[in-house]
Amino acid sequence: MQSLDTDNQDLEQKETQPAVDGGRVDDLAVGNCKTIELPEGRELALYNVNGEFYATENFCPHKGAPLAAGTLCDHTIECDWHGWQFDVRTGECLTVPEKLETYEVVVEGGVIKVLI
Ligand code: FES
Repeated sequence: MQSLDTDNQDLEQKETQPAVDGGRVDDLAVGNCKTIELPEGRELALYNVNGEFYATENFCPHKGAPLAAGTLCDHTIECDWHGWQFDVRTGECLTVPEKLETYEVVVEGGVIKVLI
């Protein structure tokens, strides 16, 4: 009988998956968010929700406002331009049927990494 160690497979996949530096944990206070710039004009928004870090695409699907400039209240980011709200854990829009891309975030040695 063959046994599969899915935890090890997940770990190996995370170790080989590309990641971007999200900076130090201490530099993003609870309730704050910031922009992470990627190559080719892409951007991510990184959020600190009570010490848990989440990342989504940064541009609002409505008219393209940067969500990292919005207002974060618990798990909800509200876009500054027209008020659409999104759950940063799932990317689900709470205002209309839309969804943001979300990204896994890991913290290693006090440094935030976003798996892209
Ligand atoms: S651009 Fe975000 S709600 Fe309009």
